[in-house]
Amino acid sequence: MPARLLVLALMLTHALPGWSAFSNEASTVLITGANRGIGLQFATQFSERGWNVIATARKPEKADELNALAGLHDNLVVEQLDVTDHAGIEALAAKYADQPIDILLNNAAITPKYASAFKRVKGVDFDMARQSYEVNALGPLKLAQAFMSNVAASEQKKIVSVSSKAGSFAVGPQMPMMYGYRASKAALNMLMYTLAFETRKPGVIVTVLSPGTVNTTPGMTMPDGLEPDESVRAMLTVIDNLGPEHNGQFLNYESGESIAW
Ligand SMILES: NC(=O)c1ccc[n+]([C@@H]2O[C@H](COP(=O)([O-])OP(=O)(O)OC[C@H]3O[C@@H](n4cnc5c(N)ncnc54)[C@H](OP(=O)(O)O)[C@@H]3O)[C@@H](O)[C@H]2O)c1
Repeated sequence: MPARLLVLALMLTHALPGWSAFSNEASTVLITGANRGIGLQFATQFSERGWNVIATARKPEKADELNALAGLHDNLVVEQLDVTDHAGIEALAAKYADQPIDILLNNAAITPKYASAFKRVKGVDFDMARQSYEVNALGPLKLAQAFMSNVAASEQKKIVSVSSKAGSFAVGPQMPMMYGYRASKAALNMLMYTLAFETRKPGVIVTVLSPGTVNTTPGMTMPDGLEPDESVRAMLTVIDNLGPEHNGQFLNYESGESIAW
């Protein structure tokens, strides 16, 4: 084909909705909040496995490490996505309408890094609590709604949301803080538990995972904290071994054992 025609053909193909550079043979994962912390590690480890990775970030123009990773792996595509932007989620789902997605990985969250999250009841930041519910609970549900048919059309059929023991009524220290975060993760757990009921028939496995305590705050190392690569390696083993019996369960990153709600 003459060079000019080839360029034109490439331009047209890239302009088509749903175009992707993905390999048909590889499995596909969509990760939210893939620009740092645990999400960046998921993107790294799935890329190293040769997966097609749709790595989403709120601000891709500032996602230096993720963009560098995309430079190393042809099968990693960086997409802009704020999980509170439901129109943006639907637009992304329309773009990937024909792409089976083996794992929808809801990782993005507002995490309690800032002093405002650790205050007693007098100091609760209600705006932050509302925002945490939008991002940590409704965001994953909206993604599940928008990408359900992609997951159902895939081989592995898994929707995995990264939750936290802080959202459990039965586990973890009782503490007078992190109100917004703990409630948002308890809500995420309930939403995914509810979703699992209706995904039994299409055979989509819905689980929530606790990643353990992971050092993702720059300059802060937590006692007994895991490094992101350790936590993600352990979670990948759990995710690999998910079967229909895990639908609707809250699982530990390390053992894959069920955690009490
Ligand atoms: N680290 C731990 O010890 C720990 C423990 C239990 C559970 N978890 C859970 O593990 C997951 C990852 O935690 P992490 O420690 O890696 O968190 P992190 O370092 O705070 O990273 C959070 C990620 O979520 C993204 N995000 C925040 N709001 C968003 C929005 N509206 N739309 C899209 N993305 C948004 C952030 O993007 P920006 O960079 O744009 O802000 C960032 O990529 C979270 O679900 C967290 O709750 C972590």
